[in-house]
Amino acid sequence: MESGEVNPQLLSATINTLFGGGKGLLAMDESTPTCDKRFAAVGIPQTAEARRAYRELIITTPGLGRYIGGAILFDETIRQTTKEGVPFPKFLADAGIVPGIKVDEGTNDLAGHPGERITAGLDGLRERLLEYSNLGARFAKWRSVITIGDGIPTRGCLDANAQDLARYAALCQEVGLVPIVEPEILMDGDHTIELCAEVTGEMLFTVFSEIYQEGVDLEGMILKPNMVLPGLSCPIRNSIDEVADITAETLLRVVPAAVPAIAFLSGGQSGELACSHLNAMNLKFRERLPWVLSFSFARAIQHPALEIWAGEDTQVSAAQNALFHRAHCSQAARCGDYTTDMETTK
Ligand code: G3H
Repeated sequence: MESGEVNPQLLSATINTLFGGGKGLLAMDESTPTCDKRFAAVGIPQTAEARRAYRELIITTPGLGRYIGGAILFDETIRQTTKEGVPFPKFLADAGIVPGIKVDEGTNDLAGHPGERITAGLDGLRERLLEYSNLGARFAKWRSVITIGDGIPTRGCLDANAQDLARYAALCQEVGLVPIVEPEILMDGDHTIELCAEVTGEMLFTVFSEIYQEGVDLEGMILKPNMVLPGLSCPIRNSIDEVADITAETLLRVVPAAVPAIAFLSGGQSGELACSHLNAMNLKFRERLPWVLSFSFARAIQHPALEIWAGEDTQVSAAQNALFHRAHCSQAARCGDYTTDMETTK
């Protein structure tokens, strides 16, 4: 194969491992400032060692590989080791969990577009991807954020973010990493679910237009979208079925059937709610979905475990039980087998 040529078999093999057996993804790729913010909220010291210990707690959860096919790491984390000195990517791979890596460098204000953001990280990305691949990563993630507000999002913001997502995806495929393409419509605001559906559909349409233009292999990528939800301060709260219907219908209209898998972010929903929504989609749309409909949750899997651990060694096992439980519920939801009874019979 010539340099720059994509190896579709390699990309497909990775995707099959990530989602085979009804599994999904665990996002544990919080940047240092985000991780520190979550630690501060529960009184954990914000140090590199505390972040390492927490990530070790996560990846050493016994049996995690039954439900989790891949874990997304952060730059600091992919270079860290367990107490015994095993590099995290190796520990994960030995546990049957494919290591992945967040490769964007966060968001900045988008010049000329007040209130809108653009994701950084394309400069030098080709070299960084090669390094991450050498460190053991087999897939990558890039997140763009879109805010709904007065007069936004603008066409300029959607186009700029979509083009960067597509260029990142093409670079990943060139080195054999499966790109997770994450255009997140934020939940902040008082917008209705209908407006969220409109913006989500428009952004996804824009993303896939760019993906065609940049020559990205659709069969070798994963889409990580938001669920379609009303804004956090919208007075109208929608039912589980309403969210499932509008989310699945929005995706069915714009996501090509050639894409093998969609893995939702949780976006700040509780684990129970995120699982209920995912489960309803998999149950109601089972016959119509051309792609695997799975999860790539961070908070909806980690949050109870982080609160239980709270930085205390004596709490590691209880925190791991909570994490394992949320991973199990998420896997059940990805298969349409989740019931809220699972929450009381842990
Ligand atoms: O980029 C966002 C994370 O990978 C997903 O996080 O499930 O807490 O929204 P979340």
